[in-house]
Amino acid sequence: MAEKVTMDKLVSLCKRRGFIFQSSEIYGGLSSAWDYGPLGVELKKRIQNFWWREMTQLNDNIVGIDAAIMMHPRVWEASGHVENFTDPLVDCKKCKKRFRADQIPEENLKNHVCPECGGELTEPRQFNLMFKTHIGPVEDDSSIVYLRPETAQGIYVNFKNVLQTSRLKIPFGIAQVGKAFRNEITTKNFIFRTCEFEQMEMQFFIHPSEDEKWFEYWKQKRFEYYIKLGIKKENLRFHQHGPDELAHYAKKAFDIQYNFPFGWKELEGIHNRTDYDLRRHIEYSGKDLTYLDDQRRERYIPYIIETSAGLTRTVLVVLSDAYDEEVVEGETRVVLRLHPLVAPITVAVFPLVKKDGLSELAREIERGLREHFSTFYDQGGAIGRRYRRQDEIGTPYCITVDYQSKEDKTVTLRFRDSMEQIRVKIEEIPARINEAIKNYRRV
Ligand code: GAP
Repeated sequence: MAEKVTMDKLVSLCKRRGFIFQSSEIYGGLSSAWDYGPLGVELKKRIQNFWWREMTQLNDNIVGIDAAIMMHPRVWEASGHVENFTDPLVDCKKCKKRFRADQIPEENLKNHVCPECGGELTEPRQFNLMFKTHIGPVEDDSSIVYLRPETAQGIYVNFKNVLQTSRLKIPFGIAQVGKAFRNEITTKNFIFRTCEFEQMEMQFFIHPSEDEKWFEYWKQKRFEYYIKLGIKKENLRFHQHGPDELAHYAKKAFDIQYNFPFGWKELEGIHNRTDYDLRRHIEYSGKDLTYLDDQRRERYIPYIIETSAGLTRTVLVVLSDAYDEEVVEGETRVVLRLHPLVAPITVAVFPLVKKDGLSELAREIERGLREHFSTFYDQGGAIGRRYRRQDEIGTPYCITVDYQSKEDKTVTLRFRDSMEQIRVKIEEIPARINEAIKNYRRV
């Protein structure tokens, strides 16, 4: 991890430039909830699209769905979340703070001493992370619904629907991106762990005998995906779950971890969920969710290999990994080295000066480029400052229109990472930028 990036710098850049704001800030903020501003929403959407393309478009056997956040309450009994989706919680009787028992020093836990104020801690008790609410006007047990703590269950309950309406045969996958909610006891580190977040999950349905093969396949594929997204390889590693880390549904699990400014932490989980989920839904719903395999002449409950990434957590990874500072001509240049396909703005267009028809020409060029890329027009301040403003938000390409442009219909194309500038014909700008995007390599 480059020493240059700290959480303070990231949080302040995100606020200053309109990537991410504290939720309900004018009321003092809501802890652990964040709003995505004009640049943040573009970045998040592009990361989502990058994932969607990778998982669905580039695979002929993976389709998408978008299931409701609220599901029948029996789903969460069947999935095991009502019973097992808990964290051990301890309270401090003095300062009233709450901690996850597994995240405070063992000595404190053993001696019941609060790590913050030295007060007395309660015995650990299990705390269910699902948010519970009611559907309809009557708040009784029959109206309980949960906000989904993972998107995966929306896929499992639609397994038969997708199978019957598409012509997919095992092995095949179903992908989904959406919100998930967890009443986390401790939320910290900006958007890393929040109560409301987004997941990008893919469930791959396979014959039980092939679980090892597909597990290994998706483990490697998902690691390579982050390199494609422009994340530095040295900031990524695998972590295998030990027996006490495994979720209640998993036979085997590997995390892809990222080296965040606060240490190595999980970014994505690859799980062998066996036939646990479908079997439980068969049991609880009474419906037949088995699969008839024509080729094998066999009926079985498919095994599932799951790839489960946090979208909002990936936003933090992408920002953290892209953040760079370097000294240029005696001044610090802050630059986000974002992959051009996820950068909120692809091309910024500037007139060198506002007069002599240069701003009109620059405007015309910028409007023409909107068909191809997300663009931004800026005519305020010295040209060097305009470049710096774009560097700081990760805009990979800038175009400057000058007096020569009026004569020979060429402009300057400047590359964010190298700061190299080349002369390009106006009509060739889209092709040159597309070529640069295609050949983009993270420096
Ligand atoms: N369906 C499996 C599942 O949900 P998980 O390991 O609990 O597995 C998967 O979560 C991913 O979701 C994590 O790797 C992380 O990126 C993201 N995630 C989980 N809890 C989160 C939270 N409270 N805030 C932000 N992202 C979270």
